[in-house]
Amino acid sequence: MVILGVETSCDETSAAVLRDDEVLSNIISSQAVHAKFGGVVPEIASREHIRLLLPIVQQALQDAEVTIDHLDGLAVTYGPGLVGALLVGLNFIKGLSKATAKPFIGVNHMEGHIYGNLLTNQVEHFPVLFLIVSGGHTQLVLMKDHLKYQIIGSTRDDAVGEAFDKGAKMLGLGYPGGPEIDRRAQQGNRDFYHFPRAVLRESPLDFSYSGLKTALLTYIQKQDREHLELHMNDICASYQTAAIDVLVQKTINAAQLYGVKQVGVAGGVAANSLLRKWLQKECEEKGIVLLLPELVYCTDNAAMIARTGMEYIKRKMYSKQNLNAVPSLTLDVPYKHD
Ligand code: KG4
Ligand code: ZN
Repeated sequence: MVILGVETSCDETSAAVLRDDEVLSNIISSQAVHAKFGGVVPEIASREHIRLLLPIVQQALQDAEVTIDHLDGLAVTYGPGLVGALLVGLNFIKGLSKATAKPFIGVNHMEGHIYGNLLTNQVEHFPVLFLIVSGGHTQLVLMKDHLKYQIIGSTRDDAVGEAFDKGAKMLGLGYPGGPEIDRRAQQGNRDFYHFPRAVLRESPLDFSYSGLKTALLTYIQKQDREHLELHMNDICASYQTAAIDVLVQKTINAAQLYGVKQVGVAGGVAANSLLRKWLQKECEEKGIVLLLPELVYCTDNAAMIARTGMEYIKRKMYSKQNLNAVPSLTLDVPYKHD
């Protein structure tokens, strides 16, 4: 089965072609234009998707050495994400579907992140526990079967990726902040300063990152510029440790609570080197198998969307032409496209 996938939910314009489990092409263009604003500007993102999408799809087909005739189906992200950005990809795929009479499926971006992990990992038996960590989400999700999910923990405020991005901004570092903090933290002392970890005793599988962000702001306000510059790597290491600590502890607790033997990590923050190392160590100690995604499939890409779409298309589950973008789509909404 050959599937074309398209992803335009935020600031990556991406198209990919998969033949069964094999990624034939995966073209990703990260819109650099947002860096100077310190975050994604939705209006600019939509316009950039319009400019970039057609040539990227053509490139993906060319690199995969297939034509539109070879495709068995089309997959596109329809939520969650920025509505204008989502509509660019969705309308493109709807048009292509109409013109070619090929079926299309609207894909949940977060489900895409899960299948991004499964592009290179195998599920031994369900349920698998997924820690989903991105710029907009921090969730613990039980994957009970293919296409069946139960959310067992979520952030009450900011996502962990947001904590990285906003923390980096406060420290005067670039956007996106996650990779930059990760890089600096590797040369810093993680015990330099103790930032708070939100435990949330009444709902222990939920997360909260607003307190950590405020703690960083308060810390920065108390220090002079010279101190901050001298200890930038140490501050990054301490801040990152606090952010990752709760992810590791809560994931392990959830795995034990639900008796899960396989744990996966998905989303942009799954690229974080401390999270990967720390969770690996804890899982080994507890006899849990950890599924880590390849770095290229952590942040937004269309291969993960094509892979998810394939699961639906092979079950003949398609979307209709009236499918709209759903900016706040959640993972526990069952398929209802007909
Ligand atoms: O999944 P993604 O590409 O987009 C969303 O769906 O949000 O995730 C982007 C997020 C950003 O917040 C970025 O700072 C974070 O992933 N990120 C990282 C790392 N690489 C990307 N955070 C921490 N460490 C990293 N190495
Ligand atoms: Zn994402």
